[in-house]
Parts: sequence; C-alpha cells; structure tokens
Amino acid sequence: MQAIRVHSGGELRYETVPDPEPGPGQVVVELKAAALNRRDLLVREGVYPYPLPLVLGSDGAGVRRDTGAEVVINPGVHWGPSEEASGPEFEILGGPDHGTFAELVAVPAENLFPKPARLSWEEAAALPLAGVTAYRALFGRARLRNGERVLVLGAGSGVSSFAVQLAVQGGAEVLVTSSSDEKLARARELGATAGVNYGTEDWVAWAKDRGGVDVVIDSVGSTWPQSLECLRPGGRCVVFGATGGTDAQLPVRPFYFAQWSLLGTRMGSPADFAGLIAAVEHGAWCPVVDSVRPLEQAAEALSRLQDGGHFGKLVLSCS
Ligand SMILES: NC(=O)c1ccc[n+]([C@@H]2O[C@H](COP(=O)([O-])OP(=O)(O)OC[C@H]3O[C@@H](n4cnc5c(N)ncnc54)[C@H](OP(=O)(O)O)[C@@H]3O)[C@@H](O)[C@H]2O)c1
Repeated sequence: MQAIRVHSGGELRYETVPDPEPGPGQVVVELKAAALNRRDLLVREGVYPYPLPLVLGSDGAGVRRDTGAEVVINPGVHWGPSEEASGPEFEILGGPDHGTFAELVAVPAENLFPKPARLSWEEAAALPLAGVTAYRALFGRARLRNGERVLVLGAGSGVSSFAVQLAVQGGAEVLVTSSSDEKLARARELGATAGVNYGTEDWVAWAKDRGGVDVVIDSVGSTWPQSLECLRPGGRCVVFGATGGTDAQLPVRPFYFAQWSLLGTRMGSPADFAGLIAAVEHGAWCPVVDSVRPLEQAAEALSRLQDGGHFGKLVLSCS
C-alpha cells in the first residue's frame, strides 16, 4: 500500500510499505479519508519516542475489508475499565501503532463505529479525535447544562470547531476567542453568539464585562490563569492542551474563594465516542473541513496546521 511515514529526524516520505496484517481481534479498514491533529506534528517532532518509521495519523474513515461496512475509527485504543480516566494501556492510533495516513490500517474491531450516513467521507474522517475530545470536555468533564454560557478559546482550532457546535446543540450560549476576525465570523456561523480577538483586545475584560461564563474550554495551556478569571463563581475550566505553552502559575486564594474547578481531560472513552456519534445522528451540524488534499500532500497539510491559518480540520483523501 501507499502511506505517509515519518522517519528519523522528522523526515516525511510518501512510500510503498507492506499491507498491514491484522492481529487478534483486529480488522483491516480500506481508508477513504484521514484527518490531521496537532498530535501528528508532535509525533513528527519526536516529542513521543515511538519506533520509526511510523505511519502517521489518528483519524480515519473507510470500508471494513471483512464485511464491507462503512465505518469511522475511534482512535483511542485500550481505554480501560473506568469512565473517570483512561488506563495505563491507553494508546492512540498513529503512535506507537501505525496510523491512518495510508490506504489501509489495521485496528481493533471494537474501535469501529458505523459512519453517520449524512456525513461525507471527508467529514467522517474529520470527526474522531477532535470530536471526542470536545464531547468529553463539554459533557463528560464540565457536565454542561442547557442554558449555561461557554467560552471556547481559539475558534480556529479543530477541537474548538466541534466544541462550538456540540455546545450549541447542548443548549449553551457560546462565546469564542480567536486571533482572526475572519475566524470569529466563521465561529458565529457555527452558532457562537459573540467573539473577541485575543490578539488585539483584552479578552478577559471582554468576558467579564458580559458577566463571565460557566465553562471555559481551554486547549491553550498558558492561558489557565486568564481562563479562570473569566469564570463565574462555581465555574469550570476544562483543559487538554498546551498549544500556547506547558507552564501556568495560578493565584490560589481567588481559586478557592470562587469555588472554581479545573478539570483535565484526554480524548474520550468508547462511551464518549458512542455519545459523539449519537450527537451527530441527532444534530444538523457537520464537522468543519478546512481543506482536502491527496494523501501524498500530507507535508503541505501539516505545514498549514503548524502555521495556524486553518479553520477546522485538515483532511487527506486516501483512495
Ligand atoms: N488531551 C487530548 O486528548 C487532546 C486531544 C486533542 C487535542 N489536544 C490538544 O489541544 C490543542 C488543540 O488541538 P487542535 O487539534 O484543535 O489544534 P489546532 O487545530 O492546531 O489549533 C490551534 C489553534 O489554537 C489557537 N491558539 C493558539 N494560541 C492561542 C492563544 N494564546 N489563545 C487562544 N487560542 C490560541 C489558535 O486559534 P485561532 O487561530 O483561532 O487564533 C490556533 O489556530 C492542541 O494543543 C492539542 O495537542 C489534546
């Protein structure tokens, strides 16, 4: 098959590799499309010490080779028995196991879910990792309630494009931040009621002027202190990324006086993934596809992700 593999030094090659051999409990999926995540950049940079060469990619949708069923792949493998957190065996497709930037991938059969019929192949491939992360952050961790107000940081992010639409579907009022006025306008098209440019305005003052928010969805990391400041008393801040930096210093007294919660989250359990699929089935929204490129142009897609010009998900067509 053809695949995109990362070699030592982060070199990407589009090359012919052996077809995957399914192990016990695994099936082969003929991929129609795959999608990028920030994780692919980190894997390429060598942040995680996986054996190389490695087929990149966590997200994909395609056809089960054994049954012909149209499926979307849950990239979280071996979540474990607890809904509270993933267990020690938890792994993500695309490192250490070979991923979806390929014509074929071998995955555990239990990780395959029916492709929602109303989604195109590109939209279905865009859904899994970012979609389940947003779903768990909002509903599993923040326990978002109808009528609450949510602030989603960085409207252009893949996860944010799901967080906005899922929160709106859940009956929340959604506010967003972005570095781009154009992205703020696009977030409003997805259902956000208002937005602020964090590059040119004091976004904390902006949120506080509106009476604060019940929930902040923060994938930026370095923004934890500011995100907490935006919360109403008793509010929840859900965190799962470090796009802006891995360190944050928090003022202790305001935190407990206001009885805030800071909640870590990581992708999602199989139950979260089933919930995400059900949300798609019951909703009218679609994953936001920034652009689609042929598999061999994965390097160009990764460059666009790195540069941050995208809005939503970057997709590769695999066949
Ligand atoms: N823990 C998990 O399970 C998990 C799962 C998925 C993702 N993540 C992490 O979550 C983060 C987002 O992932 P993604 O795939 O959605 O990434 P992405 O599509 O690459 O999102 C990047 C976006 O982050 C926003 N951003 C950067 N600095 C910001 C700042 N200072 N303030 C506000 N927004 C800022 C920008 O939005 P604008 O362009 O709108 O300014 C940028 O476009 C990454 O760090 C990723 O590693 C973690």
